[in-house]
Amino acid sequence: MKQITILGSLNIDTTLKIDRFPLPGETVEAINKSSTAGGKGANQAVAAARLGAKTIFIGCVGRDSSGEYLIEALEEEGIDTANILHDEEAGTGTANILLDEAGQNSIVIYGGANRKLTSAQIQAAAGQIATSEFLVAQFETSTAMTLEAFKIAHQKGVKTILNPAPAHEIAPELLRVTDLIVPNEIESRLLTGIEITNQTSMEQTAAAFRKMGVNNLIITLGSRGVYYAGEDQSVLMPAFKVKAVDTTAAGDTFIGALAAKLNSDFSNLAEAIKFAQKASSITVQRLGAQVAIPTLAEIEEN
Ligand code: RIB
Ligand code: NA
Repeated sequence: MKQITILGSLNIDTTLKIDRFPLPGETVEAINKSSTAGGKGANQAVAAARLGAKTIFIGCVGRDSSGEYLIEALEEEGIDTANILHDEEAGTGTANILLDEAGQNSIVIYGGANRKLTSAQIQAAAGQIATSEFLVAQFETSTAMTLEAFKIAHQKGVKTILNPAPAHEIAPELLRVTDLIVPNEIESRLLTGIEITNQTSMEQTAAAFRKMGVNNLIITLGSRGVYYAGEDQSVLMPAFKVKAVDTTAAGDTFIGALAAKLNSDFSNLAEAIKFAQKASSITVQRLGAQVAIPTLAEIEEN
């Protein structure tokens, strides 16, 4: 079985369903409230595990019931949680999600324990990173720890996948040890300064990332599909047309599914992307983050 290590966040997501987003200074009343398991890292791990990978998770929670709940949620998926640290002071991460009738969301996260990963913890996981096919990370945990883990992977010839979400700048050093970067168009523009409008700007974006040291790029473009540029090919793949009720964890499902399906030499990129798009198209049709992520059987039925 293929082994994947995911380094990332665990959050309790509190989703408030609203008619419309409040303006600054305005108060609106929610129609419904629910709390579920989320966090970009944990969501990606759940997707990878449900879609057939042996998944190892590196993260940090607080010493609280939320932390226990999130760890149990991963364990139920068969995910290895031995590398999850408990921080004695910080509380478990939270995400406050506003979701409107059209399925659009706005999210405010509070990192809490997600910001407390330690170097000792990364070093303790080095053996498992080294025997994985991929190491995957996002931006809800400290970049310094991601860099340390990516360096270990790089030295051992393990491929690294970076999902630079939520958007912020990247240390050039981290890009040099990134094999595949998977931004959305906002994150892509922040990192390259190039706005994606057409084929030419997609090619320019791929060239810009190559110059920064990343040879493989996948940009998720929402309803416009997915663009990828590898060493010797680039393709725009159309999106699956579905009605979205909640896009939370759509990107995470894409990443986890991609890692579960992709060969470590990237030889089946197109096939893996299509599989990941299909998985993600199921997630957007359901409420919530981890609860919305499909199993392999559900993908095959569709
Ligand atoms: O990508 C979706 C996730 O982002 C949510 O589960 C929430 O926790 C936020 O971190
Ligand atoms: Na969803």
